[in-house]
Parts: sequence; C-alpha cells; structure tokens
Amino acid sequence: MSKKHQDKMNENYKFTRHVYDITRPLFLFGRNSLLEDLNPRLGETICEIGCGTARNLVRLSQRTQNVQLIGLDASTLMLEKASSKLKKNNLEKKIKLYHGMAENYIFEEQIDKFIFPYSLSMIPKPKEALTNIFNQLPPGGSIYILDFGSFKYWPSIVKEPFFGFLNFFQVYPDHEVLNIFEFNKECKSKVKSKLGGYSYFATLTRGNF
Ligand SMILES: C[S@@+](CC[C@H](N)C(=O)[O-])C[C@H]1O[C@@H](n2cnc3c(N)ncnc32)[C@H](O)[C@@H]1O
Repeated sequence: MSKKHQDKMNENYKFTRHVYDITRPLFLFGRNSLLEDLNPRLGETICEIGCGTARNLVRLSQRTQNVQLIGLDASTLMLEKASSKLKKNNLEKKIKLYHGMAENYIFEEQIDKFIFPYSLSMIPKPKEALTNIFNQLPPGGSIYILDFGSFKYWPSIVKEPFFGFLNFFQVYPDHEVLNIFEFNKECKSKVKSKLGGYSYFATLTRGNF
C-alpha cells in the first residue's frame, strides 16, 4: 500500500467528502447507466475499484438480489464515509469494503465483474491497476470503465479550464491507457465515446477469443 498516495487521497477528500454525493452528479455523468448495464446474474460478485462514498454500491444493492458487492478504495477517509452509509442503510452484510491500491491488491474471493466509475483517472499507475485486476478475472469475467475522455469535440476554451479543474483534484484522464489490451488475445474490448468525448465507457472481457 502506498502511504503517500493514501495521504494524497485523504488530503483531497478531507473536506469534499462531506459534499461529495451532492456535488458529483454535476460532472460524473453516466454512472447510473453503467450500473444498469451490469445486469448481474444470480450469485455474482461485483467489485467497485475506487468506491469512494459507496454511492454506486448502495444503488446497486437496491436493484439486485443475491449479489455479493465489494468496494476497494485507497482513501481511509472515503472508506469511513462509505462505512457509515452502509451502517445507516443496514447494508453491512451485503457490501464489503476493503482498503488498498488497485495496482497491487489481491482479492481473496473470485470476482465476476469489476467496475471503475471515474476512478481510473485518479489511479497513479492505471496500466498496472488494469493489468492487476484483469489478471484476477475468471474466464468470461469483465471490467467496466467509465471515465473522462479526450474532449475531442469540445472547444479548448471549455476543455483547458476543465482539465485544470480535474488536475487540481488529482484527476488525470488518459483514455489511451486501454491500448495495453490491443494485442492481448485473452481480452475482448469495446470502447464507446460519449457526449462529444466528455467521457468514455469501455468493457474488457476475459476469455480465449
Ligand atoms: C472520483 S472518485 C469516484 C468514486 C466513485 N467511484 C463514484 O463514482 O462516486 C475516485 C476514487 O478512487 C479512489 N482511488 C484513487 N486512487 C486509487 C487507487 N490507486 N486504488 C484504489 N482506489 C483509488 C479515490 O480515493 C476515490 O475515492
């Protein structure tokens, strides 16, 4: 566990964690559609990498039965917030929370689907994180990523200040990170750009194709 990154994330969310759930819908678009696209099967295990305040896990738990849910996060402060939300909603048995870094965390349980809603762009070594997580997928398992895109069709008068705002909050979008799977015969990937490049939605599925 990188203590330095944990401290950076805690510093980042020291105050903003208290307003996180009411402010983030203003710019983290598409999270509810990602949850709808998951369409979990009975008995599946789903893990959110960078689960933050557990906003997505709580929503998922409300729409699924007999699905095991897990959240991993590098920030102890965000996990405290998540944990009190689970307590309030009586969801502690349905959702497990773990503290660790996506780049090297090894899960004890088999996980069928991993989701990265707006977390990959905050992970310092996103290629390492994706490789570590992909290697833990069973055949047929998938990774779902939703994150900021290249803003291809946005004017630079909007794009540049917005990227400055994101960088201030330790967010460094890099949609090209998925290129590491280009020649991986075990991975089938699909990438869709949304809102003129504001965000992208990608799925990576493991199998022998
Ligand atoms: C922008 S927030 C998104 C939170 C949540 N997914 C959502 O949609 O509300 C990104 C989260 O990723 C976590 N994070 C950053 N780097 C991480 C890493 N290397 N491993 C695990 N989590 C990380 C942060 O602490 C933060 O809670």
